[in-house]
Amino acid sequence: MLTQAQNERLTQVGPGTPMGELMRRYWHPITGSSALNDETPTKEIRLLGEDLVLFRSTAGKLGLIEPSCPHRKANLSYGVPEPEGIRCAYHGWLFDEEGNCVDQPSEPAGSRFKEKVKIKAYKVQEMGGLIFAYMGPEPAPLIPRWDVLAWEGKRDHWSMELPCNWLQCQENSLDPLHFQWLHRYWGGWTMNRIKPTEERDAWNAALSSRGAEHRKIAFEITDYGVIKRRLVGDETEESDHWRVGHPILFPNILRVSHGLEFRVPIDDTTTLHLITNYRQYNPGETIQHDIDVPFEERSLYDENGKIVRDYVVAQDQVAWIIQGPISDRTTERLGVTDVGVIMFRRMLDEQARVVEEGGEPMNVHRNDDENGVIVLPCEFYMYPGYDEVGGPFKDTVAGEPTVEAILSGEGVKLAEWEGLKAAPRVWGVDTSGLGSADQPWYSDGKAH
Ligand code: FES
Ligand SMILES: [Fe+2]
Repeated sequence: MLTQAQNERLTQVGPGTPMGELMRRYWHPITGSSALNDETPTKEIRLLGEDLVLFRSTAGKLGLIEPSCPHRKANLSYGVPEPEGIRCAYHGWLFDEEGNCVDQPSEPAGSRFKEKVKIKAYKVQEMGGLIFAYMGPEPAPLIPRWDVLAWEGKRDHWSMELPCNWLQCQENSLDPLHFQWLHRYWGGWTMNRIKPTEERDAWNAALSSRGAEHRKIAFEITDYGVIKRRLVGDETEESDHWRVGHPILFPNILRVSHGLEFRVPIDDTTTLHLITNYRQYNPGETIQHDIDVPFEERSLYDENGKIVRDYVVAQDQVAWIIQGPISDRTTERLGVTDVGVIMFRRMLDEQARVVEEGGEPMNVHRNDDENGVIVLPCEFYMYPGYDEVGGPFKDTVAGEPTVEAILSGEGVKLAEWEGLKAAPRVWGVDTSGLGSADQPWYSDGKAH
């Protein structure tokens, strides 16, 4: 349970708020590279409570500027892209990617008025087929080269705007138990009602291993964030679920299976959930260039106006939304199962204080070898360049937990699970039809 003031400290993201200032120390993805093209060279963006316009000049440069033209306030997303920047639709003032007014064509010849006009502009950079923005103080850090974003291979991205605060999305990643209940039990119960028998059984088999009864959970703070571990069903501490686990990248990213999930705060009550999927090239496959990486903006609702709920990420999104626009943490009742959530709130509070005191928070990258790739541990993952699951983490031993909790290991069974065998689980390659970037249950809402 938090006080109202504590809840606001962790959830509000506007300029000048503690969490807003902490969030401004990190690069955030705002859309896909392929979303900005000749047809749609501008896009209205809202990020950390600020309205902005993203554009790509005809010379290929990206800009992220305040939306209103300072002349007489026309929205610059209606402007015309030119080699030097974007030209306002109304009277033709031209702005470059740094927010400088570089042309006021109808002012008298020799006028130097334009030199006095500048608008707000933020840094933008591309990586792995995504466009990232940085809204913090200079000098800007590097965009971390997380493995699935930086490795050679095939990527696709999709996003969804969710009507809820970013923190309830991220807290979900510090809550391993939800897999047993939200995905395996409620998810199974839901699929039993909306899917034909074969698909229902495939779902239940695919979810049964990670969603088995949770007996122990543990969290270890690392340089990049947190490693989360679970001991489930009849598995031992030798299982990848316990030894390897998977990371939460501070402050708002999850690395799991074959991708990343970014929970980007649009404002206090809206979150951009942006998902990256990665897989290795198949032999002879054409090289994918970043500008060609598919990017899809998905709707929360299906064609009947119902919230989509028939794949894992969609079920997470349902859970976050039904907590309300900003979860009321002043009346919540946390149990032993919530040790990770409590630990993560402390981390956020501490790192916000680091920024308040003029320091640099954790997981800000400045000195990396820019060609390096940050390879992250992830259970049951087939790493590029290795023949066996686990790759460089094959023999990893679980680190000392920062916090852990022993759970009852109890659950509730669905009749439809009777006689079903757990499906094999390998992430990263398409060997079994399960676990690849084309894996239907994890994130592709279309392949059911
Ligand atoms: S409003 Fe933009 S040039 Fe006049
Ligand atoms: Fe989940």
